[in-house]
Amino acid sequence: MTPLKGPEGFNQFYQDMYGERWPRIKEALLAPKKHVAVANPWSFYKFPDVPLEVSGLTFSHDVKDVFPQPEKTHHGYLNYYLLDAASILPVEALDILPGEKVVDLCAAPGGKSFLCAIKLKGEGLLISNDRSAARRARIHRIFDDYIPKSSQKNLTITSYDATKWSLYQKSMYDKVLLDAPCSSERHVLEDSKELNLWAPGRTKAIAISQFAMLASALDIVKVGGTIVYSTCALSKLENDDIIAKLYQKRAGRFELIRKEFSFGEPTEFGWQVLPDTSGWGPFYLAVVKRTR
Ligand SMILES: C[S@@+](CC[C@H](N)C(=O)[O-])C[C@H]1O[C@@H](n2cnc3c(N)ncnc32)[C@H](O)[C@@H]1O
Repeated sequence: MTPLKGPEGFNQFYQDMYGERWPRIKEALLAPKKHVAVANPWSFYKFPDVPLEVSGLTFSHDVKDVFPQPEKTHHGYLNYYLLDAASILPVEALDILPGEKVVDLCAAPGGKSFLCAIKLKGEGLLISNDRSAARRARIHRIFDDYIPKSSQKNLTITSYDATKWSLYQKSMYDKVLLDAPCSSERHVLEDSKELNLWAPGRTKAIAISQFAMLASALDIVKVGGTIVYSTCALSKLENDDIIAKLYQKRAGRFELIRKEFSFGEPTEFGWQVLPDTSGWGPFYLAVVKRTR
């Protein structure tokens, strides 16, 4: 029997994956999102009231359903950056120290790169890479809106294909963030044209290039260095199955570091935030330490 496509196929595919939890996840995906505002240290912004905090986040932040659009403070830089709390977790999981050499392999529009830059405090190196020129322009804009030019000396924006990076460099970086392009089911659900085009082959095809990127990341990180692999996908094929494949194809070259956070839940190899429980996500991450 040919697999179902379009909205019916989508529903069946995720129903099979998440069972009786799927209708609650789907409802949460369609609900309005809440936001975290991460204060920009280069704008010297302080939240006016006592901020609501998400336990475990080390960035100065506040939580609301709706924030006003970011504005420049009198220092000339935007006051805060808005994002989903789950999107902060991969940067927390990287444990970046000032002075380290960090690559954000799929960086645009640049929210997580901005967080990495905060962690580096102007020391070391951050390479923010993205293959798309239009999307790289957004990284440039975020850096210029949030960070003085004099503090951007350790920040570089590049345009390489993440799947092929290891052909040119090996064992170079302390930390690698691979926030991979993914199925992004929230966006598919919100866009009827996308939903009508959905087919199960799509997540399988995306998973192939995600694995190629992770294999490349394992070669470019130093021995002893850390990779965080993350996606905003719900499909297990793009999450735990990618790490399972790394065990099959790169056995003995890495170990998994298990991290826990104040929201979300453990999976076989990583950590997943699903919107039906916390209102954040969907988001998946796994922490891989290169050992050889
Ligand atoms: C999930 S988004 C990254 C979001 C980003 N980390 C952030 O926090 O703003 C994935 C990005 O990967 C980029 N991309 C897709 N294929 C790529 C490749 N082969 N090499 C490098 N970048 C790629 C896309 O242009 C897209 O901007």
